[in-house]
Amino acid sequence: MTNQDPKPLGAIFTPLKWAKWALQETGAFQAWLEGASVLDPTAGNGAFLRAMLELAQEQNILVSASMLARLHGVEREAAFVEEFFALVKADIGIDFPREHFVCADILLNAPPVQADIIIGNPPWENFTNLPTDYKNLVKPLFYEYGLVASAGDVLLGNSRADIAALIIAKTLVKNLQKGGKAHYFLPLSIFLNDGAHEQFRSYRLQNIDFAVQSIYDCNPHHIFDGIATRYGFASFQRDVQQQFPIPYFIADDIANGTGFKQQTAQPMYRKNAPLTVTATSAEASSIQGFVKISLPEKAKPRQGANTCGANDVFIFDQYELDTENPAMVRVSNASNAPLLLPKQCIYPLTTKINFSETAPIPHKWILLPHNTHTGKPLTEAEVQAHDALWHYLSAHQERLTARKGTLIQSLVTKGLWWALLGVGAYSFAPYKVLWEAFGQKTFTPRVFATLAGQAWQGNQALHASICADSLEEAERICEALRHPHILTFLQSQRMDGTCNWAQPGRISQLLSFTRETESLFE
Ligand SMILES: C[S@@+](CC[C@H](N)C(=O)[O-])C[C@H]1O[C@@H](n2cnc3c(N)ncnc32)[C@H](O)[C@@H]1O
Repeated sequence: MTNQDPKPLGAIFTPLKWAKWALQETGAFQAWLEGASVLDPTAGNGAFLRAMLELAQEQNILVSASMLARLHGVEREAAFVEEFFALVKADIGIDFPREHFVCADILLNAPPVQADIIIGNPPWENFTNLPTDYKNLVKPLFYEYGLVASAGDVLLGNSRADIAALIIAKTLVKNLQKGGKAHYFLPLSIFLNDGAHEQFRSYRLQNIDFAVQSIYDCNPHHIFDGIATRYGFASFQRDVQQQFPIPYFIADDIANGTGFKQQTAQPMYRKNAPLTVTATSAEASSIQGFVKISLPEKAKPRQGANTCGANDVFIFDQYELDTENPAMVRVSNASNAPLLLPKQCIYPLTTKINFSETAPIPHKWILLPHNTHTGKPLTEAEVQAHDALWHYLSAHQERLTARKGTLIQSLVTKGLWWALLGVGAYSFAPYKVLWEAFGQKTFTPRVFATLAGQAWQGNQALHASICADSLEEAERICEALRHPHILTFLQSQRMDGTCNWAQPGRISQLLSFTRETESLFE
């Protein structure tokens, strides 16, 4: 890569072998030969356009001026644009027309090109990781292209909306001819995650229908080395209504060649739900037939406590009772030498090993300076009532005040800079059904009962939980969650091993919340 900019956005190029595979698999190469125009809207050093020219060369097809004029590229980084011209000249011996491969931003200032076919690989990057100036420029576009329901939608405040979804939406709407086809390598979160991409999965943007016609789930082929994101290759057609199931091709585990086996994908329970992938339509119908587990309204699954990047302030790995004062405990971690804090504010924090212990014993502890009845952060007077607590938190005030994120900052501006997120009255319930929500392949919730008066806490996105008032209630919830349907459903959502394995939103799809008298606990 010859780019001078230290931070080009998502600059991971498609290997020529795979660009050629995509052009042939989709019929884009043949369509171009027959007169279709083709655009790569985020073209990098032009892998798709160079693959097109190389395929022609391999088949001894003379590329005419009019064929070249049907190829278009847009790329933000000037160095990549120059690299493209140099590579086409050196490898294929062609002077590519300058006006057909331009240095511009496809979202902000690109020429209004409209092609019969779009093929490309947009940058994959969470909205929150974009540079601040760029974020401000593109934020209104998420709204304009219908990817968030309102301009202030909080989804943009969390980390899950992907710039790839915006580039796909914009190019489907503005850069594709009526009825045209578009094909992209993309993060599969667009199809498989709950939350941020629900609006995209309305399959209609700015009153324009678009249908996903096939999805290739590619990871085992290692097309993009060193990429942890689950990615695939999807084909869309503009002005066509979405039909289900969508043919869903899964890469053969033997990663030689380009083999895929066909399965089917469809949303369950509502049209814009994440797709469920099954070997046959009969399996999909069987999942669709699962009776949702009925739970009381208060039994909503939630993520664990979130320090917003200040784990070293709130989480400890050593804990002992103070022999002189039973109301105090001595805690420490790699950043803090042993210090005394009020016992009532320190809670056992679940760790991986707890899920396999017969009787879980804490290996970590978390400081929650929150009110145990309301779940709200303690008031300043309440924190100051504990000298040691006030002294400890004050020593970290600058750090805690500077934590990033809209939600934590709204508490900081109210003067509650010691707050955590993901803490509510439910955090202090005496029983919790907790499970590992992140990076797993199995689903084994278990009951955690209050330990020495302190409720177990899940750790942020690693653990999710449902709270319960009694052991009996917790055991009934746990038994209901262990129903094999749930694991079958999770496996069909293809998120095993990822951060999205059994997060609360995904599990909630199989739950229905009712007034207690109509629930499981009737
Ligand atoms: C994942 S790379 C793919 C490049 C090429 N399509 C390929 O498959 O090899 C994404 C490219 O998009 C460019 N890019 C990012 N945002 C862009 C934008 N808004 N407009 C145009 N290009 C953009 C990056 O500089 C990068 O070269």
